[in-house]
Amino acid sequence: MNREDFPMLKKDLIYFDNGATTLKPKPVIDAMVDYYSNYSANAHRGDYDISLKVDTAYEQVREKVRNFIHCKSKDEIIFTKGATESLNMVVFGYMKYRLKKGDEVLLTKAEHASNVLPWQELEKEIGIQIRYIPLNEDHTLTLENVKKIITPKTKVISIAHITNVVGDIRPLEEIGQLCQENNILLVVDGAQSVAHLPMDVEKYHIDFLAFSGHKMLGPTGVGVLYGKYELLENMKPLQFGGGMNSFFESDGTLEYKGIPTRFEAGTPPIAEVIGLGAAIEYLQGIGMERIHQYEVELKKYAIQELEKIPNITIYNKHSTGGIVAFNIDDVFSQDAALYLNHYHICVRAGNHCAKILKDELKIKNTCRISFYLYNTKEEIDRLVQVLKQSKDIFKIVL
Ligand code: ALA
Repeated sequence: MNREDFPMLKKDLIYFDNGATTLKPKPVIDAMVDYYSNYSANAHRGDYDISLKVDTAYEQVREKVRNFIHCKSKDEIIFTKGATESLNMVVFGYMKYRLKKGDEVLLTKAEHASNVLPWQELEKEIGIQIRYIPLNEDHTLTLENVKKIITPKTKVISIAHITNVVGDIRPLEEIGQLCQENNILLVVDGAQSVAHLPMDVEKYHIDFLAFSGHKMLGPTGVGVLYGKYELLENMKPLQFGGGMNSFFESDGTLEYKGIPTRFEAGTPPIAEVIGLGAAIEYLQGIGMERIHQYEVELKKYAIQELEKIPNITIYNKHSTGGIVAFNIDDVFSQDAALYLNHYHICVRAGNHCAKILKDELKIKNTCRISFYLYNTKEEIDRLVQVLKQSKDIFKIVL
Protein backbone atom coordinates (compact mmCIF):
# COMPACT_ATOMS: atom_id res chain seq x y z
CA MET A 1 0.00 0.00 0.00
CA ASN A 2 1.50 3.28 -1.05
CA ARG A 3 2.50 5.37 1.96
CA GLU A 4 3.88 8.01 -0.41
CA ASP A 5 0.29 9.00 -1.22
CA PHE A 6 -0.24 10.31 2.33
CA PRO A 7 1.34 13.70 3.07
CA MET A 8 0.83 13.18 6.83
CA LEU A 9 3.05 10.11 6.75
CA LYS A 10 6.01 12.26 5.75
CA LYS A 11 6.01 13.52 9.33
CA ASP A 12 7.76 11.73 12.15
CA LEU A 13 4.56 10.04 13.24
CA ILE A 14 3.08 6.62 13.82
CA TYR A 15 -0.64 7.03 13.38
CA PHE A 16 -2.64 4.29 15.10
CA ASP A 17 -5.90 6.20 15.63
CA ASN A 18 -7.76 5.29 12.47
CA GLY A 19 -10.93 4.42 14.36
CA ALA A 20 -11.19 8.11 15.22
CA THR A 21 -10.31 9.39 11.76
CA THR A 22 -8.08 8.36 8.88
CA LEU A 23 -5.34 10.20 7.03
CA LYS A 24 -6.09 11.57 3.57
CA PRO A 25 -4.29 10.52 0.41
CA LYS A 26 -3.19 13.06 -2.19
CA PRO A 27 -5.97 12.23 -4.72
CA VAL A 28 -8.60 13.14 -2.11
CA ILE A 29 -6.90 16.41 -1.23
CA ASP A 30 -6.35 17.18 -4.93
CA ALA A 31 -9.99 16.54 -5.84
CA MET A 32 -11.13 19.02 -3.20
CA VAL A 33 -8.53 21.64 -4.16
CA ASP A 34 -9.56 21.19 -7.81
CA TYR A 35 -13.19 21.91 -6.92
CA TYR A 36 -12.29 25.02 -4.91
CA SER A 37 -9.78 26.20 -7.55
CA ASN A 38 -11.63 25.44 -10.76
CA TYR A 39 -15.39 25.03 -10.43
CA SER A 40 -16.51 26.12 -6.98
CA ALA A 41 -20.18 26.80 -7.74
CA ASN A 42 -23.19 25.60 -5.77
CA ALA A 43 -24.96 22.32 -6.58
CA HIS A 44 -28.43 21.87 -8.09
CA ARG A 45 -29.05 25.61 -8.46
CA GLY A 46 -27.19 27.16 -11.39
CA ASP A 47 -27.69 27.20 -15.16
CA TYR A 48 -24.12 27.86 -16.15
CA ASP A 49 -21.22 25.58 -17.06
CA ILE A 50 -19.34 25.32 -13.79
CA SER A 51 -22.55 24.80 -11.86
CA LEU A 52 -23.56 21.98 -14.20
CA LYS A 53 -20.11 20.52 -13.74
CA VAL A 54 -20.68 20.54 -9.98
CA ASP A 55 -24.02 18.74 -10.39
CA THR A 56 -22.40 16.06 -12.51
CA ALA A 57 -19.47 15.56 -10.13
CA TYR A 58 -21.77 15.47 -7.07
CA GLU A 59 -24.22 12.98 -8.57
CA GLN A 60 -21.40 10.79 -9.87
CA VAL A 61 -20.28 10.30 -6.27
CA ARG A 62 -23.75 9.04 -5.39
CA GLU A 63 -23.30 6.37 -8.04
CA LYS A 64 -19.82 5.57 -6.72
CA VAL A 65 -21.26 5.06 -3.23
CA ARG A 66 -24.01 2.85 -4.67
CA ASN A 67 -21.42 0.70 -6.36
CA PHE A 68 -19.25 0.63 -3.21
CA ILE A 69 -21.98 -0.67 -0.90
CA HIS A 70 -23.87 -2.63 -3.57
CA CYS A 71 -27.36 -1.20 -3.26
CA LYS A 72 -29.96 -1.19 -6.01
CA SER A 73 -30.33 2.49 -6.78
CA LYS A 74 -28.26 5.62 -6.31
CA ASP A 75 -31.44 7.28 -5.05
CA GLU A 76 -31.05 5.19 -1.90
CA ILE A 77 -27.91 7.16 -1.02
CA ILE A 78 -28.34 10.32 1.09
CA PHE A 79 -25.36 12.55 1.84
CA THR A 80 -25.27 13.62 5.47
CA LYS A 81 -22.75 15.18 7.84
CA GLY A 82 -21.59 11.81 9.08
CA ALA A 83 -22.69 8.52 10.64
CA THR A 84 -24.11 10.32 13.69
CA GLU A 85 -26.45 12.44 11.61
CA SER A 86 -27.39 9.40 9.50
CA LEU A 87 -28.41 7.40 12.59
CA ASN A 88 -30.35 10.34 14.00
CA MET A 89 -32.24 10.60 10.71
CA VAL A 90 -33.21 6.93 10.91
CA VAL A 91 -34.44 7.24 14.50
CA PHE A 92 -36.18 10.62 14.33
CA GLY A 93 -37.20 10.68 10.66
CA TYR A 94 -38.38 7.10 10.30
CA MET A 95 -38.61 5.08 13.52
CA LYS A 96 -40.39 7.80 15.47
CA TYR A 97 -43.37 7.52 13.11
CA ARG A 98 -43.31 3.73 12.63
CA LEU A 99 -42.69 2.38 16.13
CA LYS A 100 -45.09 2.49 19.04
CA LYS A 101 -44.98 2.13 22.81
CA GLY A 102 -43.69 -1.29 23.85
CA ASP A 103 -42.00 -2.08 20.53
CA GLU A 104 -38.56 -3.52 21.19
CA VAL A 105 -35.32 -2.21 19.74
CA LEU A 106 -32.30 -4.44 20.26
CA LEU A 107 -28.84 -2.93 20.72
CA THR A 108 -25.66 -4.18 22.41
CA LYS A 109 -23.63 -2.56 25.16
CA ALA A 110 -20.67 -2.35 22.77
CA GLU A 111 -22.41 0.25 20.59
CA HIS A 112 -21.07 3.75 20.08
CA ALA A 113 -23.02 6.66 21.62
CA SER A 114 -24.52 7.53 18.23
CA ASN A 115 -26.25 4.17 18.12
CA VAL A 116 -27.51 4.32 21.70
CA LEU A 117 -28.43 7.90 22.56
CA PRO A 118 -30.93 8.55 19.73
CA TRP A 119 -32.74 5.32 20.70
CA GLN A 120 -32.73 6.33 24.38
CA GLU A 121 -34.29 9.65 23.40
CA LEU A 122 -36.96 7.82 21.42
CA GLU A 123 -37.56 5.55 24.41
CA LYS A 124 -38.29 8.69 26.48
CA GLU A 125 -40.43 10.25 23.72
CA ILE A 126 -42.67 7.38 22.65
CA GLY A 127 -41.97 4.49 25.03
CA ILE A 128 -40.15 2.00 22.81
CA GLN A 129 -38.27 -0.54 24.85
CA ILE A 130 -34.50 -0.87 24.40
CA ARG A 131 -33.07 -4.28 25.17
CA TYR A 132 -29.40 -5.17 25.05
CA ILE A 133 -28.40 -8.40 23.34
CA PRO A 134 -26.05 -10.30 25.67
CA LEU A 135 -22.49 -10.56 24.43
CA ASN A 136 -20.25 -13.59 24.76
CA GLU A 137 -17.45 -13.78 27.31
CA ASP A 138 -15.07 -12.33 24.73
CA HIS A 139 -17.52 -9.39 24.27
CA THR A 140 -18.55 -10.47 20.77
CA LEU A 141 -22.05 -10.86 19.36
CA THR A 142 -23.33 -14.21 18.09
CA LEU A 143 -26.39 -15.16 16.07
CA GLU A 144 -27.43 -17.53 18.88
CA ASN A 145 -27.59 -14.68 21.36
CA VAL A 146 -29.68 -12.63 18.97
CA LYS A 147 -32.03 -15.59 18.43
CA LYS A 148 -32.44 -16.05 22.17
CA ILE A 149 -33.54 -12.48 22.83
CA ILE A 150 -35.92 -11.66 19.97
CA THR A 151 -39.64 -11.72 20.73
CA PRO A 152 -42.73 -10.93 18.63
CA LYS A 153 -42.37 -7.35 19.91
CA THR A 154 -38.87 -6.95 18.41
CA LYS A 155 -39.15 -4.47 15.57
CA VAL A 156 -35.57 -3.27 15.09
CA ILE A 157 -32.02 -4.52 15.59
CA SER A 158 -29.50 -1.68 15.45
CA ILE A 159 -25.85 -2.72 15.67
CA ALA A 160 -22.40 -1.81 14.48
CA HIS A 161 -20.90 -3.99 11.78
CA ILE A 162 -17.50 -3.68 13.51
CA THR A 163 -17.44 -2.29 17.05
CA ASN A 164 -15.06 0.55 17.84
CA VAL A 165 -13.38 -0.91 20.95
CA VAL A 166 -13.70 -4.70 20.75
CA GLY A 167 -13.30 -4.62 16.98
CA ASP A 168 -15.42 -7.72 16.38
CA ILE A 169 -16.98 -8.26 12.99
CA ARG A 170 -20.63 -9.07 13.48
CA PRO A 171 -22.22 -11.96 11.51
CA LEU A 172 -24.38 -9.58 9.51
CA GLU A 173 -25.48 -11.98 6.81
CA GLU A 174 -26.99 -14.39 9.35
CA ILE A 175 -28.46 -11.61 11.48
CA GLY A 176 -29.90 -9.98 8.35
CA GLN A 177 -31.50 -13.29 7.35
CA LEU A 178 -33.00 -13.69 10.83
CA CYS A 179 -34.36 -10.14 10.66
CA GLN A 180 -36.00 -10.83 7.32
CA GLU A 181 -37.66 -14.00 8.57
CA ASN A 182 -39.03 -12.17 11.60
CA ASN A 183 -40.02 -8.90 10.00
CA ILE A 184 -37.41 -6.97 11.97
CA LEU A 185 -35.65 -3.91 10.52
CA LEU A 186 -31.85 -4.10 10.52
CA VAL A 187 -30.04 -0.81 11.08
CA VAL A 188 -26.25 -0.99 10.74
CA ASP A 189 -23.66 1.47 12.02
CA GLY A 190 -20.94 1.02 9.42
CA ALA A 191 -18.63 3.74 10.74
CA GLN A 192 -15.86 1.29 11.62
CA SER A 193 -16.47 -1.23 8.84
CA VAL A 194 -17.26 0.30 5.47
CA ALA A 195 -13.66 1.50 5.12
CA HIS A 196 -12.19 -1.81 6.20
CA LEU A 197 -13.94 -4.66 4.42
CA PRO A 198 -16.35 -5.20 1.53
CA MET A 199 -19.90 -3.98 2.19
CA ASP A 200 -22.95 -5.44 0.46
CA VAL A 201 -26.26 -4.14 1.79
CA GLU A 202 -28.27 -6.52 -0.38
CA LYS A 203 -26.40 -9.62 0.74
CA TYR A 204 -26.68 -8.60 4.41
CA HIS A 205 -30.37 -7.59 4.13
CA ILE A 206 -29.59 -4.20 5.63
CA ASP A 207 -32.48 -1.75 5.84
CA PHE A 208 -30.49 1.32 6.88
CA LEU A 209 -26.71 1.78 6.85
CA ALA A 210 -24.83 4.77 8.30
CA PHE A 211 -21.18 5.70 7.78
CA SER A 212 -18.75 8.63 7.72
CA GLY A 213 -16.40 9.86 4.99
CA HIS A 214 -13.52 10.84 7.25
CA LYS A 215 -13.06 7.30 8.54
CA MET A 216 -12.52 6.05 4.99
CA LEU A 217 -9.75 8.37 3.74
CA GLY A 218 -12.30 11.05 2.87
CA PRO A 219 -12.90 14.50 4.35
CA THR A 220 -14.72 15.38 7.56
CA GLY A 221 -18.23 16.82 7.27
CA VAL A 222 -19.67 14.22 4.94
CA GLY A 223 -21.29 10.87 5.56
CA VAL A 224 -23.88 8.60 4.08
CA LEU A 225 -27.26 7.22 4.99
CA TYR A 226 -28.35 4.30 2.86
CA GLY A 227 -32.00 3.29 3.18
CA LYS A 228 -34.12 0.88 1.17
CA TYR A 229 -36.13 2.99 -1.25
CA GLU A 230 -39.52 1.88 0.10
CA LEU A 231 -38.42 2.89 3.61
CA LEU A 232 -37.10 6.26 2.47
CA GLU A 233 -40.51 6.91 0.90
CA ASN A 234 -41.91 6.86 4.44
CA MET A 235 -39.11 8.82 6.09
CA LYS A 236 -39.68 12.43 7.12
CA PRO A 237 -36.95 14.99 6.41
CA LEU A 238 -35.41 16.47 9.55
CA GLN A 239 -34.11 19.56 7.75
CA PHE A 240 -36.41 21.93 5.89
CA GLY A 241 -35.24 24.64 3.51
CA GLY A 242 -33.92 25.26 0.03
CA GLY A 243 -33.36 22.44 -2.41
CA MET A 244 -35.63 19.88 -0.72
CA ASN A 245 -39.01 21.28 -1.85
CA SER A 246 -40.75 21.43 -5.25
CA PHE A 247 -43.00 24.23 -4.09
CA PHE A 248 -44.49 25.80 -0.97
CA GLU A 249 -47.24 28.33 -0.40
CA SER A 250 -47.96 30.99 2.22
CA ASP A 251 -50.71 28.75 3.68
CA GLY A 252 -48.14 26.09 4.59
CA THR A 253 -48.67 23.84 1.57
CA LEU A 254 -45.40 22.06 0.90
CA GLU A 255 -44.42 19.50 -1.69
CA TYR A 256 -41.16 17.64 -1.22
CA LYS A 257 -38.75 16.95 -4.02
CA GLY A 258 -38.05 13.32 -4.82
CA ILE A 259 -35.77 10.95 -2.96
CA PRO A 260 -32.96 11.53 -2.00
CA THR A 261 -33.04 15.32 -2.70
CA ARG A 262 -35.74 15.92 -0.08
CA PHE A 263 -33.27 14.80 2.60
CA GLU A 264 -30.49 17.19 1.55
CA ALA A 265 -31.84 20.65 2.39
CA GLY A 266 -29.50 23.62 2.05
CA THR A 267 -26.16 23.79 0.30
CA PRO A 268 -24.64 20.34 0.60
CA PRO A 269 -21.00 19.65 1.55
CA ILE A 270 -19.94 19.75 -2.11
CA ALA A 271 -16.15 19.66 -1.80
CA GLU A 272 -16.51 16.94 0.82
CA VAL A 273 -18.75 14.80 -1.37
CA ILE A 274 -16.26 15.17 -4.22
CA GLY A 275 -13.45 14.22 -1.82
CA LEU A 276 -15.46 11.20 -0.69
CA GLY A 277 -15.76 10.11 -4.32
CA ALA A 278 -11.98 10.27 -4.70
CA ALA A 279 -11.57 8.26 -1.47
CA ILE A 280 -13.86 5.52 -2.77
CA GLU A 281 -11.92 5.35 -6.04
CA TYR A 282 -8.69 5.10 -4.06
CA LEU A 283 -10.01 2.30 -1.85
CA GLN A 284 -11.45 0.39 -4.80
CA GLY A 285 -8.12 0.72 -6.58
CA ILE A 286 -6.55 -1.28 -3.76
CA GLY A 287 -9.50 -3.60 -3.16
CA MET A 288 -11.54 -3.91 0.03
CA GLU A 289 -10.83 -7.60 0.57
CA ARG A 290 -7.11 -6.91 0.29
CA ILE A 291 -7.37 -4.10 2.83
CA HIS A 292 -9.25 -6.39 5.21
CA GLN A 293 -6.72 -9.22 4.88
CA TYR A 294 -3.86 -6.79 5.49
CA GLU A 295 -5.49 -5.49 8.67
CA VAL A 296 -6.12 -9.04 9.90
CA GLU A 297 -2.41 -9.72 9.41
CA LEU A 298 -1.41 -6.52 11.27
CA LYS A 299 -3.74 -7.32 14.15
CA LYS A 300 -2.40 -10.89 14.49
CA TYR A 301 1.14 -9.61 14.49
CA ALA A 302 0.37 -6.91 17.04
CA ILE A 303 -1.27 -9.40 19.42
CA GLN A 304 1.63 -11.82 19.02
CA GLU A 305 4.17 -9.12 19.87
CA LEU A 306 2.17 -7.34 22.61
CA GLU A 307 1.58 -10.66 24.38
CA LYS A 308 5.33 -10.88 24.94
CA ILE A 309 5.21 -7.82 27.21
CA PRO A 310 4.37 -8.98 30.74
CA ASN A 311 2.61 -5.85 32.04
CA ILE A 312 0.16 -5.40 29.16
CA THR A 313 -3.47 -6.58 29.33
CA ILE A 314 -5.20 -7.03 25.99
CA TYR A 315 -9.01 -7.02 26.01
CA ASN A 316 -9.86 -8.22 22.51
CA LYS A 317 -7.29 -10.79 21.41
CA HIS A 318 -9.73 -12.84 19.39
CA SER A 319 -11.70 -10.25 17.44
CA THR A 320 -10.79 -9.98 13.77
CA GLY A 321 -11.22 -6.26 13.06
CA GLY A 322 -8.03 -4.17 13.01
CA ILE A 323 -8.43 -2.87 16.56
CA VAL A 324 -6.46 -3.68 19.73
CA ALA A 325 -7.73 -2.49 23.11
CA PHE A 326 -5.18 -2.75 25.88
CA ASN A 327 -3.84 -1.22 29.06
CA ILE A 328 -0.44 -1.06 30.68
CA ASP A 329 -1.11 -2.64 34.09
CA ASP A 330 -1.69 -0.07 36.85
CA VAL A 331 -1.40 2.86 34.43
CA PHE A 332 -4.35 5.11 33.57
CA SER A 333 -5.01 4.75 29.82
CA GLN A 334 -4.66 8.48 29.16
CA ASP A 335 -1.21 8.45 30.82
CA ALA A 336 -0.22 5.56 28.56
CA ALA A 337 -1.43 7.52 25.51
CA LEU A 338 0.58 10.57 26.61
CA TYR A 339 3.62 8.37 27.09
CA LEU A 340 3.23 6.98 23.54
CA ASN A 341 2.70 10.50 22.24
CA HIS A 342 6.14 11.36 23.63
CA TYR A 343 7.47 8.91 21.03
CA HIS A 344 5.15 10.32 18.33
CA ILE A 345 2.81 7.36 18.45
CA CYS A 346 -0.87 8.32 18.22
CA VAL A 347 -3.43 6.09 19.95
CA ARG A 348 -6.78 6.90 21.48
CA ALA A 349 -7.40 6.46 25.21
CA GLY A 350 -10.60 6.55 27.24
CA ASN A 351 -13.99 4.96 26.76
CA HIS A 352 -14.10 5.71 23.02
CA CYS A 353 -17.74 6.93 23.21
CA ALA A 354 -18.82 3.35 23.98
CA LYS A 355 -19.69 4.32 27.53
CA ILE A 356 -21.81 1.32 28.50
CA LEU A 357 -19.27 -1.23 27.30
CA LYS A 358 -17.77 -0.97 30.81
CA ASP A 359 -20.64 -3.20 32.01
CA GLU A 360 -19.25 -5.97 29.79
CA LEU A 361 -15.52 -5.23 29.82
CA LYS A 362 -15.50 -4.55 33.60
CA ILE A 363 -13.12 -1.68 32.94
CA LYS A 364 -13.92 1.90 31.96
CA ASN A 365 -10.93 3.01 29.93
CA THR A 366 -8.53 1.43 27.48
CA CYS A 367 -5.83 2.44 25.04
CA ARG A 368 -6.91 1.69 21.52
CA ILE A 369 -4.76 0.99 18.48
CA SER A 370 -6.80 1.02 15.27
CA PHE A 371 -5.00 0.05 12.09
CA TYR A 372 -5.44 1.05 8.51
CA LEU A 373 -3.96 0.21 5.16
CA TYR A 374 -0.86 2.41 5.55
CA ASN A 375 0.28 0.96 8.90
CA THR A 376 3.19 -1.46 8.93
CA LYS A 377 4.72 -4.22 11.04
CA GLU A 378 7.73 -1.94 11.57
CA GLU A 379 5.43 0.59 13.24
CA ILE A 380 4.11 -2.18 15.49
CA ASP A 381 7.69 -3.14 16.35
CA ARG A 382 8.38 0.45 17.39
CA LEU A 383 5.23 0.53 19.55
CA VAL A 384 6.25 -2.72 21.24
CA GLN A 385 9.78 -1.42 21.84
CA VAL A 386 8.41 1.75 23.45
CA LEU A 387 5.93 -0.20 25.57
CA LYS A 388 8.66 -2.54 26.75
CA GLN A 389 10.49 0.36 28.30
CA SER A 390 7.33 1.69 29.93
CA LYS A 391 8.73 1.33 33.45
CA ASP A 392 9.99 4.87 32.74
CA ILE A 393 6.48 6.06 32.02
CA PHE A 394 6.06 8.41 34.97
CA LYS A 395 9.37 10.12 34.33
CA ILE A 396 7.94 11.12 30.97
CA VAL A 397 4.27 11.69 31.70
CA LEU A 398 4.48 13.55 34.99
N1 ALA B 1 -16.12 7.11 16.84
C1 ALA B 1 -14.77 7.47 16.79
C2 ALA B 1 -13.87 6.55 17.56
O1 ALA B 1 -14.23 5.46 17.85
C3 ALA B 1 -14.54 8.90 17.08
O2 ALA B 1 -12.77 6.97 17.89
